[in-house]
Amino acid sequence: MAELFAAAFGLGWPVLVLLVGLMIYFQVTIPDRATRRRAVFKTFIGMLAAVMAFIAIANYKLNFFGNSRLLPVSLAMVTALSFMMAMYFYNVSALFKIGGTMFFVAAALSGYGNWLPQVEGGFPPPEVKLDFGGMTAQQLADEGEKIIFGGIGQSKVQGAIGKGQCPLCHGFNEGFLSERAPNLFGIPERAKKQLEDPRYHKGKPGDRDTAQKEAFAGSGTAEGGQEYIAESHACPSCYVVSGFGVKGTNDKESPMPTIHKPPISLSLGELAAVDTWLYVREGKEPPSYEEIIKAYEKFIPEADRPKQTEDQPAAGGGGLLATGEEPVAQIFAKAQCVVCHTIPGIPGAMGTVGPKLVEKTNAPNRIKDPAYKGGAKTVREYITESVISPGTYVVKPFPDGVMPKVFGQKLSAGALNKIVDYLSQVEEGKEPPKI
Ligand code: HEC
Ligand code: HEC
Repeated sequence: MAELFAAAFGLGWPVLVLLVGLMIYFQVTIPDRATRRRAVFKTFIGMLAAVMAFIAIANYKLNFFGNSRLLPVSLAMVTALSFMMAMYFYNVSALFKIGGTMFFVAAALSGYGNWLPQVEGGFPPPEVKLDFGGMTAQQLADEGEKIIFGGIGQSKVQGAIGKGQCPLCHGFNEGFLSERAPNLFGIPERAKKQLEDPRYHKGKPGDRDTAQKEAFAGSGTAEGGQEYIAESHACPSCYVVSGFGVKGTNDKESPMPTIHKPPISLSLGELAAVDTWLYVREGKEPPSYEEIIKAYEKFIPEADRPKQTEDQPAAGGGGLLATGEEPVAQIFAKAQCVVCHTIPGIPGAMGTVGPKLVEKTNAPNRIKDPAYKGGAKTVREYITESVISPGTYVVKPFPDGVMPKVFGQKLSAGALNKIVDYLSQVEEGKEPPKI
């Protein structure tokens, strides 16, 4: 409500100032008492009408893009003020009445049109289960782009990210510096070459010195590029690209999440879509859908294959990483905070890419730092700022640009609130808060 009045005032204040000026002018200059009072009163009515008009316009502007059902209210207000003006300005009354009637008709029509779909909009959209197997390569690639980046065409957009979350770590564009994970441009060709690396131990999983030697007992190693890609997704620690392992493990362990397991949980069909995009966007002939599925079946046992279920709509375009309904530990996992940060009390949060998130201890020190140029005054504000705008203050000795800058768009307000609640209670050397 306050927002509405502020917006209305922002639009209308020059007119209001003018009308008040006019009232004072009449008051001072008209000598005859009756004439003076009529003039001042009419100006006052005009002012009321103007106020209503500006509120109506502000309401229209504010609610136009929302789901509000208040739009017809604006039109009803304009109709009412037209008739009000008609009552007091009798010499032009007919004009106002005609205008008012026309407006009423428009209001009724647009109100009707505006109101109905919004009421219907309350129903959840029907769940569409995608038939990946029946798609052309281009359709499959489009679904893949949606899964990786959140929408068709989004692969060109800096910071775009979808349910697969790959861009949190991987660069995708040719020549783009990708420090945390290999740039995936050229992967269709590179995949074949990786198999020649002696560290890959083709055909001899027993000789591998990685944290996991095989995707599952008896699965063996990859034959051919597509199988290499499938194995990379299903068992990141089976072979770790040199220099990209978890710090301190000597490239024995990969920081990449297992893509078919929670929280990402892509189904085989979705994985096939992702892989098809990797080929198609380079103008390369992708393997057939059946070949890709076979490659995944080699590395993911039946029981571990996520089903494309109702609560996991396929390829949810542009979706959020976390809705805020989840328990806080799951939010940290879904948003991959755990990969980079150690967070006391959160299972699996042992990352060392960024600082340990003991924010009740850290935040006051950051704010006190003379180099701090942000706007936060409290622990909660500092955490919020760090998550949605990591570049505002970069914690030493970490480099800028490592913490993704997408969380402002990719976490719901509820999820962010839970993150801030939790982190603001974590203190160095104290028991972590209960979850
Ligand atoms: C948390 C960071 C992270 C996320 C998220 C992630 N990856 Fe990775 N990925 C890595 C790292 C680090 C490596 C290199 C180490 C290794 O070989 O496992 C890697 C390796 C790979 C490789 C092998 C690359 C090569 O040059 O041999 C492929 C293919 C791959 N990732 C695809 C994906 C796809 C597709 C997604 C999204 C569905 C994804 N990754 C999500 C971090 C990530
Ligand atoms: C790709 C790795 C990465 C991911 C994923 C990541 N961060 Fe960070 N984060 C960093 C790095 C590196 C820094 C330190 C540099 C900086 O301040 O930007 C940092 C800094 C922070 C800080 C400031 C810490 C301090 O003590 O001042 C907070 C808070 C934070 N991250 C929270 C989060 C949360 C919450 C998530 C998940 C929604 C997350 N981060 C995901 C790498 C990451």
